[in-house]
Order: sequence, then C-alpha cells, then structure tokens
Amino acid sequence: MKILGIETSCDETGICVLDASGEMPNITFKVLGDALYSQIAIHAQYGGVFPMMAKRAHTKNILELTKLALTQANDWQEESSTEISLDKENAIRDILKMEDDLASEFIKTISKIGRPNIDAIAVTHGPGLEPALWVGVNFARALSIAWDIPIIPSNHMQGHIFSVLLTPDGNTVNVQFPAIALLISGGHTELILVNNWLEFIKVGQTRDDAVGEAFDKVARILGLPYPGGPEISKLADIRRKEKLLNPTEPIFKLPRPMINSNDLDFSFSGLKTAVLYTVKGMPTNSTPTESLKPIELTDEVKKDLASEFEDAVTEVLISKTFKAVEKHDAQSIIIGGGVSCNKNIRANFEKAALERNIPLLLPNPKMSTDNAVMIALAGYINIINKVPTQDGYVDIKPQGNLAL
Ligand code: KG4
Ligand code: ZN
Repeated sequence: MKILGIETSCDETGICVLDASGEMPNITFKVLGDALYSQIAIHAQYGGVFPMMAKRAHTKNILELTKLALTQANDWQEESSTEISLDKENAIRDILKMEDDLASEFIKTISKIGRPNIDAIAVTHGPGLEPALWVGVNFARALSIAWDIPIIPSNHMQGHIFSVLLTPDGNTVNVQFPAIALLISGGHTELILVNNWLEFIKVGQTRDDAVGEAFDKVARILGLPYPGGPEISKLADIRRKEKLLNPTEPIFKLPRPMINSNDLDFSFSGLKTAVLYTVKGMPTNSTPTESLKPIELTDEVKKDLASEFEDAVTEVLISKTFKAVEKHDAQSIIIGGGVSCNKNIRANFEKAALERNIPLLLPNPKMSTDNAVMIALAGYINIINKVPTQDGYVDIKPQGNLAL
C-alpha cells in the first residue's frame, strides 16, 4: 500500500510517500519520498511559534513539497493530466477558501499532472495548533477529491509512538506489550500504557509545561535561540566533556520536581523558574530581596546551567518512566517526540534499561522530531486494523487537543 503522508501540526511542513506492506508485527516499509520544510528560521526571530504565521508558511509550501515528495517517489506524472470536473473544482475551492491563493494554484497544478499511484492519504488531524492543522487537513481533502483517494486521519502522538518502528532496514521491530511510552515534545509530556497498537491509556502527564517547552524557555533565559532543546543539549555536552577531563561539582544545583511523588505526573515549570531565579540572583525559596544581583551569563554559567537543567530533566523522566513500568508490569519502553533526540536523555535511558533488562525502543533521531513518515505509518497501521477511511467530501475537523 502506498500512503501519502501529510504533517502540518506545528512548525514543520512534511509530505512523504511511504510504501508499506504486511501485518503487525512484521510490517516492511520503504520511504519513497520525504520532503520536509522546517519553519524554524521564521519563528526563531520571535522566540516561539505563532500559529497564524505557521499556517501561512504551511499554505505557501505545501504544494511544492508535495511535488518534491512525489517526484522523489517517481510519481509526479507530468506526461499525464487529471480532469477536475466543475463540481469537483467548486468543492475544492470551497474547502480551500481560507488558504489564501492555494485553491487556484492547486487546481492549475493538479490538473496538469496524472493521478499518482497512491492508495490512501494520511493526514494529522490533531493534536497541534489548529490554524496549522487546518492547512494539512484541507489540502488532504482537496487531493482526495481531485484524485479519488481515501483519507485516513492520523493522531500526531500515535505517529510519535510509531516512529520507533521506522528502523533503517525497513522492517518494523517486534514490540512486547504492554509497553510504556514516554512522549516528550514541545507540547506534550505524557506516559502512555500501550496495550497493543490500537489501545493507548494515559497514565501520567505534566501538570504545567511540557519538557520541550521547558527546554525552549530555559534556552531563552540563557539567551540562546529557538528552538532551545538542541542549543541546551550542545552546551551541556561540552560541559560534560570538560568534566571528564576535569571533574567538578555543578556551580548551580537545580531541583528535580516531583521525582519522589507517588503518582506518574510531572511538573517542569518550577524547574524553569529555578533557572530564572538563579540567573536573576533571586533566592528560590523566599521573595526577592533588595540585594538582588543578577549573575553574569558567561559561557561557563550557561554551560553549567544547561547541563544541570538537562540532568534534572533526565533524572525525573527516568524515575517516572520506570515507576510506570513497575506499576503496569510493562515489558518494553518506547520513547517518542522531538525531545527524544536529546543525546543525554537517550544515553541515560539506554543505561537504565540495560541495568533493568527491559527492551527500550528509541526513534532514529531523524524521525524524532515532527515528520510525515510517522504520520503515514500511523495511517497504514490504522487501515490494516480496519479503522475506517473518509473521503474528501466529509468534513474532517482538526482537533487541537485530540487525545490518544
Ligand atoms: O515533536 P516535536 O518536533 O514538535 C512537537 O510536536 O512539539 O518537538 C519539538 C520540541 C521543541 O521543544 C524542541 O526544543 C525539542 O523538541 N527538541 C529537543 C531537542 N531537539 C528538539 N529538546 C532537547 N534536546 C534536543 N536535542
Ligand atoms: Zn510532535
């Protein structure tokens, strides 16, 4: 089955062509085309993602990325054409009426190429930024009508869970259930009990900031660019290498919020505030005093705070994940979401899983952050599990808070 994957939930526009076959646990797959446009440069100047700017950038690039992915897959059929009837054209214009000039460009471009050899369109319908999600969903509906191809709506967080199956050799791994999945991204921090590939139960979550959000906010406090995760990670790695040659204690000590609480929840906003207070020279356990003396943000201070922050996050994530494993007698651990490409988190989880003799599945770092391939795979897995597809005439409404 060939699936066209579409991802526009946040600040990456992703289009892919995935060829997948077989049943779980023996799915084989090949990524035939994968076009990804990151809007980081657009959002970096504002220090975060503005939903309406994200929407505009998705709208501007989505058609070109589709051409790129289909061209890579040898399926952008310029020698052929697609007849779009007046009824279809009207339906497409109506669906795309909120997406600037996309409707006219869409009809002009798509009518000039032949129908690709695609069996289904998988599109993220949530969770995410609603204005951004609408672009992908409406574009999928328009393609579905033009080419008569069914749509399978994909849950973005399912995509992050399934991303661990995207191995370099194209054969999915056999996962032992029940599994505990730790989802760590810019918008989510959740522990999910995965009983099988269709049954997900949330057993823990952050009560305030998501881990990725905390990375981004701490980076901003330290004067580092957006997105902050990779920047903090770079500085923390340098500090750790220095410490190998010259072992020293951290200059600053940060809390490990909720590490000993009995539940499976997290809280990262206090950790971010602890970094802020440290930088501003405020005492963390009382109100600010007059002798407030902000510390100078030297390279040494930044490296030290970055590695201490990363250690605090890693320790909390490990402690809570293994608490969930014990509580639910999990047979394996899955980690997904943009933060799962963090080297320190990966290395410490690998060590902890080895010590406790439990299989750990991590996504290939390239598949950790948002991409269309995981969305297409989620679509395939849902289709073979008989989840119904839709056609483009059905109103598919994105849901910013869509649960697993
Ligand atoms: O999953 P994702 O690409 O988008 C969402 O669905 O949110 O995750 C993006 C988040 C950002 O907060 C970013 O700072 C974080 O993942 N991130 C990292 C690293 N790379 C990306 N956090 C820590 N270390 C990294 N290496
Ligand atoms: Zn994501």
